[in-house]
Amino acid sequence: MNKKTMQNARRLFMTGISFITSNGPSGQNVMAAEWTMQISYKPMLIAVFIHEGSSTLKNIKKTKQFGVNVASEKQSTLVSIAGGYSRKEIDKLSVRNSFVVSESKKTKIPLITGCLVNAECKLFTIKKIGDHTMVVGRVTSIRYDETKKPLAYQRNRYFRIGSMIEPIRDRVAVNKNMFNFFHKQSKNKFILKCAAVLVRSKNKMLVVNSIEQNFVSIIPYTQPKRNQDYKKSLENHLQNTKLNITLEEEPRLRRLIVKNRDKIQRIDFILFEGKLKNSSGIYFWKSIKTDTLLKSLIK
Ligand SMILES: Cc1cc2nc3c(=O)[nH]c(=O)nc-3n(C[C@H](O)[C@H](O)[C@H](O)COP(=O)(O)O)c2cc1C
Repeated sequence: MNKKTMQNARRLFMTGISFITSNGPSGQNVMAAEWTMQISYKPMLIAVFIHEGSSTLKNIKKTKQFGVNVASEKQSTLVSIAGGYSRKEIDKLSVRNSFVVSESKKTKIPLITGCLVNAECKLFTIKKIGDHTMVVGRVTSIRYDETKKPLAYQRNRYFRIGSMIEPIRDRVAVNKNMFNFFHKQSKNKFILKCAAVLVRSKNKMLVVNSIEQNFVSIIPYTQPKRNQDYKKSLENHLQNTKLNITLEEEPRLRRLIVKNRDKIQRIDFILFEGKLKNSSGIYFWKSIKTDTLLKSLIK
């Protein structure tokens, strides 16, 4: 592989920056580490990848503890200090007008003021991987400040996080019965995830009456359980309702917000096109033109 391509490509990964703090044979210290991430909920574990030869790694190996302080957008100069010099060169934490530190009473690890998160970690495991050492810490104490905004890092430059990207969903107004049907199905989940089949005949679509709610006729529809194959779940559902429909291989995803007055429900439809064979199940043909949901599903 071309060396230049590899160098260019690796600059494109986007990360945040954390200050890794420690206190040991190298003295009190802080380094910048973009390769820091949470890797387990229970126990809460954080991994940091640190190069051999750093004063930080020497401290951690000896004391088996360290701090992870997630940098905020106002701390880019501090990152330059923490990442630009080694403890062997200067005591970075004592540079004038730079770090404001509070020391953990128990562990004596310096914690940096002005960060989003300050976590104290006990060494959980350590392993040399490639040219870095993976240091995994179990969080023993943590505090956070939600008013602080994170610092982003890409192409060796610092960035502020911009505006949130709204998920792309079409909004569809449906009648009260239809809305209640979906809302009940969602069991108050933020997004209702379902599999359904579109069987068309000219301007009409095959629909069935829902068992749960008599006044609602919808395309054959099921909610697969977590980790269940969507196509197989739908095929089982069709078999149970005696609808003999063959499903095409490649489904489509339609992400909708169905609404009725001021109420909304987010729905993700995995939609299979289907062909009706001779069927003993009960179904109807509904005009696509007059049904807002059908119109939106076939878009
Ligand atoms: C933005 C930035 C991100 C960095 N990320 C890492 C990292 O993830 N792992 C690492 O080993 N070094 C990283 N470094 C380099 C160290 O912070 C640097 O080698 C530092 O001098 C080590 O300090 P120490 O010897 O006092 O421990 C980064 C540097 C900068 C400027």
